[in-house]
Amino acid sequence: MSKLVIVSNRVPSAAVGRSSAGGLAVGVLDALKRQDGLWFGWNGKIEENPAEAGLSTYRIGRLDCATTSLSREEYDAYYRGFSNGTLWPAFHYRVDLARYASREYAGYIAVNERMASMLMELVDEDDRIWVHDYHLIPFARACRRKGLRNRIGFFLHTPFPSEGVLRTIPPHRELVEALCDYDLVGFQTRGDAQAFLDYATRRLGLPLDADGVLRTRSRRVRVGHYPIGILPDEIQNKSKARSRSKLVTTLKQGLQERKLIISVDRLDYSKGLVERFNAFERLLETYPSHCGRVSFLQIAPPSRSDVEGYRHIRRQLESTAGHINGRWTELSWTPIRYMNRAYDRAALLSFFRASQVGFVTPLRDGMNLVAKEYVAAQAPEDPGVLVLSEFAGAADELADGAIIVNPYDIEAMACALHRALNMPLPERLERHGHMMQLLRDNSIRQWRDHFLADLEPLAVAA
Ligand code: G6P
Repeated sequence: MSKLVIVSNRVPSAAVGRSSAGGLAVGVLDALKRQDGLWFGWNGKIEENPAEAGLSTYRIGRLDCATTSLSREEYDAYYRGFSNGTLWPAFHYRVDLARYASREYAGYIAVNERMASMLMELVDEDDRIWVHDYHLIPFARACRRKGLRNRIGFFLHTPFPSEGVLRTIPPHRELVEALCDYDLVGFQTRGDAQAFLDYATRRLGLPLDADGVLRTRSRRVRVGHYPIGILPDEIQNKSKARSRSKLVTTLKQGLQERKLIISVDRLDYSKGLVERFNAFERLLETYPSHCGRVSFLQIAPPSRSDVEGYRHIRRQLESTAGHINGRWTELSWTPIRYMNRAYDRAALLSFFRASQVGFVTPLRDGMNLVAKEYVAAQAPEDPGVLVLSEFAGAADELADGAIIVNPYDIEAMACALHRALNMPLPERLERHGHMMQLLRDNSIRQWRDHFLADLEPLAVAA
């Protein structure tokens, strides 16, 4: 019987569930844990001669997981280098932070080749393969070279930049050509899909059928947008179940009846954390009635701390938070609580429910599942308000329910916070009801079903 094979750089560990909200591994797992299949990728470890060490295997639910380690050289070139030093910043429009080294690109290609060789041993003829994210763009190309003819789909969790930005990555053409070795290429938003199609048609000169299918010499490549979702009712139940936990009681005791603005992000320069801290300070300056009456909790577990851009943003945030707290703190009130630790997902959901405002303002984000989880975690009879960046993929769906802000506009963000903190209950109820309906209609199950249906062979051959 044919099976679904998932390939991603990060594979959920057997201890999954302890990770923070959002993220590829948690999202995809929610979509796929109840079906038979195989998940293949990196186990997060570095060891000598990983090719010889073979695969580690374990099960999560009905999924078999098979993982490989990386050597130090592979990690440096493929993960730390080209994936997170070149592609990640450029795909998030931070060309100022992107660097390029041909040696790292060669290492990126080599890891894709090695992983493709390992996967060949695990795949049967009629299996469908679903590859995830920017680490593995050339994966199908490597498989095709080794003779694999299976249907292979690719989903990009990050934004896909417009041509001018994409071209700052020297092998841009090769990357787009490699994407054309998939049968289906999926993006988070219509804008991302359009940016890819613009490049493929204008730069590569590929013809595009009316139904969004690109024609290359060897295949027809379907291109679409598939906004990733969540399981809103499951999240609502989880947040409710934990709403009287010890952690929530401690949080509420610390607040002493004050209102709470909350943000949860990996500590990443794409998340707009400095601008967000500044906007909170501007709220206190512009609307002094909030002084002593509202606290801002930023949870930001460190991430990729061996990449320079991440060390820099960490220092910057420490100094910004220190400066703001130094200026505003009173004996009985600390305005910003900035925490570099991770909480488990259920705890975060219960914190979301205990807050009045979810403040999600990335400078760029593929989707941002925290925004969706914040909405789903609210108590339906007294929901908090989502303040959301227009540059998060989630804004395409949540524009009518959230207060949408431009994260570069500090004053406008301060006004949005003021409005959110004062929003009357009927308006909160209406906005929340509207967003919940949307989240239910576009849940992660629809995302999975829609993508996998489009991965089926096209009805009419070219
Ligand atoms: C983003 C990426 C994922 C990645 C996750 C965590 O969500 O789209 O591919 O797994 O960040 O980053 P890490 O580098 O720790 O895997």
